[in-house]
Amino acid sequence: MQTKVLEYNEESIKYAASCIKNGDIVAIPTETVYGLAADAFNEKAVSKIFTAKGRPQDNPLIVHISDLKMMDNLVSDFSVTAKKIVDKFWPGPLTIILPKSPIVPDCVTAGLNTVAVRYPSHPVAQALIKASATPLAAPSANLSGKPSPTSAKHVFDDLNGNIEVILDGGVCEVGLESTVISIDDDKICVLRPGKITVDDLKTVTDNVTVDKAVLEGVTDSAQKVSSPGMKYKHYAPKADVYILDGDFEKFVEYANNNADKDTYGLVFDNEDKMLNIPCITIGDINDYNKHAQVLFDKLRELDDIGAKKVFARISSLDGVGLAVYNRLIRAAAFRVIKL
Ligand code: TXA
Ligand code: MG
Repeated sequence: MQTKVLEYNEESIKYAASCIKNGDIVAIPTETVYGLAADAFNEKAVSKIFTAKGRPQDNPLIVHISDLKMMDNLVSDFSVTAKKIVDKFWPGPLTIILPKSPIVPDCVTAGLNTVAVRYPSHPVAQALIKASATPLAAPSANLSGKPSPTSAKHVFDDLNGNIEVILDGGVCEVGLESTVISIDDDKICVLRPGKITVDDLKTVTDNVTVDKAVLEGVTDSAQKVSSPGMKYKHYAPKADVYILDGDFEKFVEYANNNADKDTYGLVFDNEDKMLNIPCITIGDINDYNKHAQVLFDKLRELDDIGAKKVFARISSLDGVGLAVYNRLIRAAAFRVIKL
């Protein structure tokens, strides 16, 4: 099977919606990353997602909606705080874990009694959900273990031959996956940081915490985690990535002294000029949104150019910086060198 890549128009949406109705899977752009979508109520279709990605069965999927009324069939309870959060941040890059309705198939939620729901703002995602007239279960459209795809090309590189069609919506604006939160009464816990930051959430309630797996990772795969996705090796490029934690002068000294033949730097704009090793840049040091947008693309580029070792810079854990660090530390398999 050769995977078709289709531009967004009325016809391609109609075709993609017919695929969804036939129980097939379709790759779609969202404002965060590309997703691999199936009718959330069709178990056979959902199982195709797991096969195409090589995804472990115990990692649940996010269900995407294009209308708040779709929540009625998905969740059994919707707290006052959840309502406030939804009013403020949807449509947008935020996923909420809520008690599931009994009709949501177990294969979507990996047998949990909760379901992850997101209302994406991307016009192509919204158009397809509307045309399909059903919520769409969709994980990121990468092969399991690869960085999430932020362009149709990334999806094609990973899944050509495994899926019928990719809807091309250009490069994703956010570039990192949605913020995932759980809500218990008025307590919010961030399970995966993203574009919607802790400070954004604090405008709704002061009661916001960050799950410790966000920065520490999970060492024991049998360990119980709030979000199953956190226990898997993630976003891993082929190279061994090392985060060098310290100021730039020390970075230069360490990188120049410890580089081998295929070692690259993953650094901020203009820093490459001070280093003796080849570098990939990810934007101005203070532009966290830019780092978020390009990180996965740059990790893929490092694979393409055959990098064996990567020395990466980090900026700040503030705001969207926390999400960037969370993805980078996974790409680095938690190898952090304190300078
Ligand atoms: O931006 C995004 O969220 C993208 C786009 C396509 O929407 N989707 C995405 O899906 O990143 P995925 O499957 O790659 O990541 C979903 C994460 C996983 O870590 C999963 O374990 C967690 O959400 N998750 C899903 N359902 C859950 C639940 N009921 N309880 C806890 N965590 C859940
Ligand atoms: Mg994923």
